Formats: sequence, C-alpha cells, structure tokens
Amino acid sequence: MHNQTYYDRSMNVEVYPHLNMALEWLDDSLPRTAVDVGCGAGRDAMFLIEQGFTVHAFDNNDEAIARLRALAKQHLKVSLLPQVSSFEQYDYPDAALITACSSLFFCHPDLFPAVWAKVTQSLLSGGIFCGHFMGPNDSWARMGWGDLSVHTHTQLTALFEQDYRVLDIYEHEADGATLLGREKHWHTYSVLAQKVT
Ligand SMILES: C[S@@+](CC[C@H](N)C(=O)[O-])C[C@H]1O[C@@H](n2cnc3c(N)ncnc32)[C@H](O)[C@@H]1O
Repeated sequence: MHNQTYYDRSMNVEVYPHLNMALEWLDDSLPRTAVDVGCGAGRDAMFLIEQGFTVHAFDNNDEAIARLRALAKQHLKVSLLPQVSSFEQYDYPDAALITACSSLFFCHPDLFPAVWAKVTQSLLSGGIFCGHFMGPNDSWARMGWGDLSVHTHTQLTALFEQDYRVLDIYEHEADGATLLGREKHWHTYSVLAQKVT
C-alpha cells in the first residue's frame, strides 16, 4: 500500500534542518510543548519527545495516527497526544514550537488563511514555527489541480510579516524523486520564524 510504504520510508529520513535549528532558537522559559502539523508516521514527533517535549501530533490519515500510536505506546497521554484531524478542524493548543514538515501545502487554498490564523494564534509569543511551503515552479503546483496551497516568495514574506520575525528561508528548486520514487520537479521553501506578537 502506497501510504504504508511512504510512512515506512519517512521514518528513516533525518529530521529537516530547520527543526534542529528551531531547538537552538527556542527560549528556555517557554513550556516544552510542540504541535506536529500533518505528522505522518511521526518521525518529528518522536524526535521532539526525545528532546523533552510534550507533542500534540495530528494528521488526517488514520493509518498514520494508528501506526504512531502503536510505535509510541509508552508515551501516549504522557508526552504524546496524537489525533486524527484535518488542518482546519484541529483544535490547536498553546505551543512553543509548531512544526509542519512537508504538510501544510496539502491544505486547500480556500482553507489556508483560516488554518494559518489558527497556527499563529496557538503559537506562544517568542515561540518558533518551522515548516515547508510549496513554490509555484513545483511540478505539482504546475499541474493546476487547485487543491494545494502554493506561495511565491513575496506571498510568504507577507504571510509572516505581521506576527513573525523570519529567521531563515531556504528555497529548494531541483529535479528529484518523492519518497515513493516518483520523479518530479521540486520547488519548496523551508521557513524558520519566531512569533513576535
Ligand atoms: C508529505 S507527508 C509528511 C508527513 C510528515 N510530516 C513527515 O515529514 O514525514 C504529508 C502529510 O500531511 C497529511 N495531510 C494531508 N492533508 C491533510 C489535511 N488536510 N489535514 C491534516 N493532515 C493532512 C498527510 O496525511 C501526510 O501524512
């Protein structure tokens, strides 16, 4: 099954650089509470538990959440709170760190503004957001399906302008393959930002 293969492989990938950098920026006075948005099989959630966080992890894929629950039985209700939910329906808790690795661009563009408002509202002042956005040259964006959230660099700057200080933006544009081995053109932005409001 495609999802299971994807999730298996995702667990063998290193956490992305901005998640590691987020920990360096995080103010020690904030509670060690994190949200993993579209957590998949839970690689980043497990990493954050190891770093002493209580992690609220959600994904709208039942299989992903079921396998995370099975993998992390001993952490359930202690340091891991997994939930099947969509970006727009999730009840975001107050958090010092919000990570969205390769997930938020799957949000329908009509829903994205409300989801982004929820993300921003749940992030504590001084807290860190890290995650990926899809650029317009990505082959999936170019398909014009209309169900992905796509951002230009200018739009990203506007997204973070009011409530955040952007610490780093890394643009990646190259031909490559998905974890399932399908060739595609990637155009993504990884953003590391601190909430300042
Ligand atoms: C590319 S995977 C990344 C998973 C994980 N963050 C990782 O890095 O391994 C994208 C994830 O977003 C989830 N997703 C897609 N649309 C979603 C939605 N509307 N609400 C919540 N999760 C969603 C998918 O089920 C999938 O697990």
